[in-house]
Amino acid sequence: MTELKTSGGGSRGTFKGRVKTITIPYKPYPHQREIHSLMDSHRFTVVVAARRSGKTVAAVNHLIARALSATDGRSRYAYVAPTYRQAKRIAWDYVKEFASCIPMIKFHEGELRCDLPNGSRIQLYGIDNADSLRGQYFDSVVLDEYGNFPSGAFDKVIRPALADRQGSCMFSGTPNGKANDFYAKWDHAGEGHPGWARYQINWHEANTLKQEEIDAMEKTMTPEEFSQELLAQFTSAVRGAYYADQMNKMELEKRITTVPYEPKLPVHTFWDLGISDSTAIIFAQFQGQEIRLIDYIEENGKGLDYFIRQLQEYDYIYGEHWGPWDLKVREMSSGMSRVEIAQELGMHFNIVPKMPVQDGVNAVRSIMHRTWIDKNNCDKLLSALYEYHREYDDKKGIFRQKAVHDHSSHGADAMRYLATAQEMVTNAASIVAGTKRPKVYTTLH
Ligand SMILES: Nc1ncnc2c1ncn2[C@@H]1O[C@H](COP(=O)(O)OP(=O)(O)OP(=O)(O)O)[C@@H](O)[C@H]1O
Ligand SMILES: [Mg+2]
Repeated sequence: MTELKTSGGGSRGTFKGRVKTITIPYKPYPHQREIHSLMDSHRFTVVVAARRSGKTVAAVNHLIARALSATDGRSRYAYVAPTYRQAKRIAWDYVKEFASCIPMIKFHEGELRCDLPNGSRIQLYGIDNADSLRGQYFDSVVLDEYGNFPSGAFDKVIRPALADRQGSCMFSGTPNGKANDFYAKWDHAGEGHPGWARYQINWHEANTLKQEEIDAMEKTMTPEEFSQELLAQFTSAVRGAYYADQMNKMELEKRITTVPYEPKLPVHTFWDLGISDSTAIIFAQFQGQEIRLIDYIEENGKGLDYFIRQLQEYDYIYGEHWGPWDLKVREMSSGMSRVEIAQELGMHFNIVPKMPVQDGVNAVRSIMHRTWIDKNNCDKLLSALYEYHREYDDKKGIFRQKAVHDHSSHGADAMRYLATAQEMVTNAASIVAGTKRPKVYTTLH
């Protein structure tokens, strides 16, 4: 058995073979040392750190150290980035830089994989191709830029792969709003669950950037961006988010809370009806000026009949159902519009007038100060409102006018329809508490 030594104490290990001392050219900064020590003593470590503080270098060296010290000849390690391209661009050079001094190591460029002489393997992946991770086991995994991972990626894809060998995981990144799993994991780690640790470091503490660089960045970033990127603080904002200010205010005023169903008021629904992608439905009650969002459905790949049945399962008394203008467009296959199909299924849709997206966004902004949202039933809608954002033009360094079409669009679109239609909705005055629940198709106006 041979002990492998590194120059900075980041990696040491044993493997079969000739006695040899290897020096890994990595001398961890003090904060990187702290991160390594947390990862050595905890199974799950959440690292929230400022930009350019050395997260990726620490992560890669953690994997190399673990891989070197493994003794069973079949240990597996993964570095996962939001996309495969990013993994290649960000981490592959680091893997080669720090691991190439290991004798007999083999780098497989095409697979972004390296095989160590002791049988350990380190491979790079992108969560955009989650299937490539299925069917594998890992002893330790690093999820880099975890704030950009789709929610559920860890629990559905990564966690099962850690199960057979009780593998460990590092969630690393710079904050990217609160409406994603990075914040949830950070929060979870802070609750003191056994095996979980968290670590946060800002630019000042990391001390890897020059003051003039910081000053220059502070000038071009909004205070919220600076707070996330360099102070490593979770704020509600995603870059270019349309509703960042309004959501912050809503949070501060505690209007994201439990919003109970009021049986004396009808429930109105607002639909963004996807044909090939997700359908989103907001359930709202209006009391005077107050807009109460009590429930929300968002599902993918289901037809109109499915959602109408869903509505019937809820114990709500319904008022009006509103959907976008394109519900009136006749479909080629049936020759009928979706308004007509809904009518045949017993449901009457009101049509939201067509208007430019920006006007709809303004309409949403103008009602946010009098809107309450149920934090449990509407969690997906909340994510959509936090995240709905403009496209960013990396080359020009500016935001485009266009909204990004992603998982946040459906809820955000339904919210635009609500904001546009809300003045036209009539709260049926005739609803009395205790009235037998009418079927969903009995629109109450
Ligand atoms: N221990 C170290 N010694 C010397 N240089 C280091 C060390 N750790 C990181 N660096 C250097 O600092 C720079 C940033 O490192 P790294 O890419 O790991 O940061 P990051 O926090 O992942 O950045 P980003 O926020 O862009 O993802 C790189 O040039 C890297 O080579
Ligand atoms: Mg990085």
